[in-house]
Amino acid sequence: MASARGKVILVGEHAVVYGRPAIAAGIERGAWASARWAPESELRVTGPEGTNGHLGHTNAPQPVEQAFTALQNELQVTGVAVEARLQLPAGCGLGASAALAVAIARAILELSGDRPELDRVLGAAHAWEQVFHGNPSGIDAAVAALGGCLRFVRGHPPQPVRVAQDLVLAVAVAGPPASTRAMVAAVARQREAHPEQVDALLDEIGCLAEEAQACLGQGALDRLGNILDSNQALLERLGVSTPAIARACAEARKAGALGAKLTGSGGGGAVIALVRDEGESVLEAWRSQGLECFAARVSTRNRSPL
Ligand code: MEV
Repeated sequence: MASARGKVILVGEHAVVYGRPAIAAGIERGAWASARWAPESELRVTGPEGTNGHLGHTNAPQPVEQAFTALQNELQVTGVAVEARLQLPAGCGLGASAALAVAIARAILELSGDRPELDRVLGAAHAWEQVFHGNPSGIDAAVAALGGCLRFVRGHPPQPVRVAQDLVLAVAVAGPPASTRAMVAAVARQREAHPEQVDALLDEIGCLAEEAQACLGQGALDRLGNILDSNQALLERLGVSTPAIARACAEARKAGALGAKLTGSGGGGAVIALVRDEGESVLEAWRSQGLECFAARVSTRNRSPL
């Protein structure tokens, strides 16, 4: 059984599409896949909400089948029946699509007797992600494959980030799933219309990612919390937050979180809050608002062996 991690982006979503650095981490929940030879290729995905066909919420017909074909073409393997299981809500910014792609690519390579080399796995995941996301930076797939805490710059190998002490994040699904493709396209349109203003926002986000990396190495959690808040404010100015996301962030801060922000593409989906303890007060506050939520640990132990 091959596996891959889900992810949270601590700092830097959207800016990472335009070459700024971002910091992301693997979470325990992810995806599993097993493959066997079959007369015709077939993919069955089970998940929290009967995920098949709804990953990333594109309007394309049968996007999962298209993505599966693109992934097999990239690996140059056909005639495989794959059973995959997701442990993450899909389309919520937690890297469900990339986790599936990485787990499926690993399962197919294992079946073929090939070593699941990182480059091949990421190449296959990229082909899959393009179907859902159009212009993926590759950060989701890198974290799905490697886990741990990573600094990611588009077009460069991901770098492990030193984490002085484990972090606990409270994670909530603050709104209905959103399309990463649509959110990335919305930022691209804004950038076309207002290049200087949008590039300045993206630069600021990139600087926050650099600072976050230093904070992680020093265990400077209070400062890291402020960075998450600043990143959220910039994402709001970029137009990718929603009132439900802003409310969930405010609830988390009121319940004692050190900082909170959306994670992933925004437009709905997940919020993360950095907490000191196990996050119970934040999780309780979110539950009382009817939000689905859980705690996730960011640790060097979340690294995935390849
Ligand atoms: C999606 O998890 C993160 C975005 O930055 C898109 C990408 O990097 O491909 C919004």
